[in-house]
Parts: sequence; C-alpha cells; structure tokens
Amino acid sequence: MSDDPNAMVSHYGDGGLRQRIEQGLTAAGVDLRAVTTGDLAPVDEFHSRGRLATRELAALASPVSGERVLDVGSGLGGPARYLAETFGCEVTGIDLTPEFCEVGNWLSELTGLSPKVRLETGSGTALPLPDGHFDLAWTMQMQMNISDKTRLYREIHRVLKPGGRFVLQELAQGAGGPCHLPAPWSSDPAASHLVSPDDLRGVVEAAGFVTTEWRDTTDDALAWYAQHNSKVDAALPVLGTHLVMGEDHERKRHNVQRNYREGRLHQVMGAFRRGD
Ligand SMILES: C[S@@+](CC[C@H](N)C(=O)[O-])C[C@H]1O[C@@H](n2cnc3c(N)ncnc32)[C@H](O)[C@@H]1O
Repeated sequence: MSDDPNAMVSHYGDGGLRQRIEQGLTAAGVDLRAVTTGDLAPVDEFHSRGRLATRELAALASPVSGERVLDVGSGLGGPARYLAETFGCEVTGIDLTPEFCEVGNWLSELTGLSPKVRLETGSGTALPLPDGHFDLAWTMQMQMNISDKTRLYREIHRVLKPGGRFVLQELAQGAGGPCHLPAPWSSDPAASHLVSPDDLRGVVEAAGFVTTEWRDTTDDALAWYAQHNSKVDAALPVLGTHLVMGEDHERKRHNVQRNYREGRLHQVMGAFRRGD
C-alpha cells in the first residue's frame, strides 16, 4: 500500500502556523530577538512527554559534539535544536511537511541555532542524503503514517556510517483494538499504520540494526499526561502543541490518552546500532 503524501501534509500543515507561534511568543512576553529553546519547548516538541522524552532519548543516544545527526520526521525541529544546543551536534532534519520545515528553520534563526540545524522537506522513505554520512539517526513519533516501514528503516540504515547509532521513540498498536481517532497523527484510519511493538522492533532489526535497548514507556506517557492535563484543562496556555494540532486538538489529546489507557496504543523507546 502506498501512502498519500498530500493527505499527510494537509493533516499536519494547514497554514498560518508561523503567525500562531509568533502571537503565542508575544503573548508569553518573549522578546523575539532573544528566544530560547526553553521558550519554544511547549510548542516545538510534538510528541508524548515533550522535552522530558527528548532528554531521555538523548541519554540513550549519547551524542557527542561535532557529530552529524539526522532527525527523520523532524517536525518543527524542537528535538533537533535541543541536540545542537546541548551537545554541539550538527543536525539535519528531514520532514514531509514543508510548513514545518519553513517554520522550524525560522525558529532556528530566532534561537541563533541555524548554523547547526537545517530542516529540509523530504520523505523518510527516500532520504535525499548520501550513504554512510551520519553518526546518529533519531526519530520521534513519525512512522505512524508510513505503511512501508521496511523502506524507512533501510533508508536510515543506508545513510548511517558503519557502526552508527539509531534511537527512536515511537507509537505502536496495542492488543486492545483499533485506536480512537482523530489522534495527533491522523484523523483517518486509512492513513494510520500502527504495528505492534514486537513487529516494529522486528522491522528495524530486519533492516540491519542490532537492538541495544528496548523499553515500553506507555505508563510514563500516561503519568506525564495526567500532569499536562491539569495545566492545559485549567487554561489553554498561549504556547502549546494545540497550535500545531488544529481545531480538534482537544479531541486528539483526549483520544491519545484513552488509546494508551485502553491498551490500544503503546509508546516505546529503542536504541540500536548499525550492524554491518
Ligand atoms: C507527531 S510529528 C513529530 C515531529 C517531531 N519528530 C517531534 O517529535 O517534535 C510527526 C512528523 O512526522 C512527519 N512525517 C510523517 N511521515 C513522514 C515521512 N514519510 N517522511 C518524513 N516525515 C514524515 C510529519 O510531517 C510530522 O512532522
């Protein structure tokens, strides 16, 4: 089955995002000439557990200054900027949604990180990148719309150096039944391609990776949401992922938690090295 990139792009990129973020930053009292990655974290970390998950995944990845890092499905580039700022990595992000890349590159300029972070429009299943170029590959909650996961992970394997590392935080299908939609990754069952945690790990390994770490973080995600809800339900913050998720953001946020709770959805983290 082939994925429909236009449907995907219109799900994520509905226009006007830069303006919404600019208004949010101004309402939060942030000086646009001195924006920090901490200011942006509520809106540019577009995955369960936000910046906390990015820190945990970085601990699994052990990035080193000067390393070339590839973030596939980089979204607005929150994790990419975190890796560049915290560890001094040179980060390339590839994302199918042009608006995310444009707005993300603007956010890198605002934070002074554009020399170290470049986001480009492209597909994870046909990376516009040379073989053996990266030390570390990174994905966060991006494979849910991709039916051909073998192709995605073979592409990631191809662009890594021999012995290169790969880390992921991803969503997987649970035994509790199909996910309630709309969810942040899809409003249409035909565009949601979740597989079980075991199958996801299996497809990564079949693409040539050796697993060094694999854990289920669903309970952590639920605990994080419990805290997040108490803030968001009291009053919608001026900056948050609701600016990215569109009109039905509240239903998407509630559905994702219901899916976790009902065993329909799992969150997993994994670390791998390229087996050669
Ligand atoms: C939930 S967002 C996560 C963004 C980012 N990884 C983060 O955690 O902040 C999913 C992202 O995957 C991207 N995406 C989906 N399918 C893709 C593909 N085939 N190639 C590249 N990016 C893709 C979407 O455009 C979107 O930015």
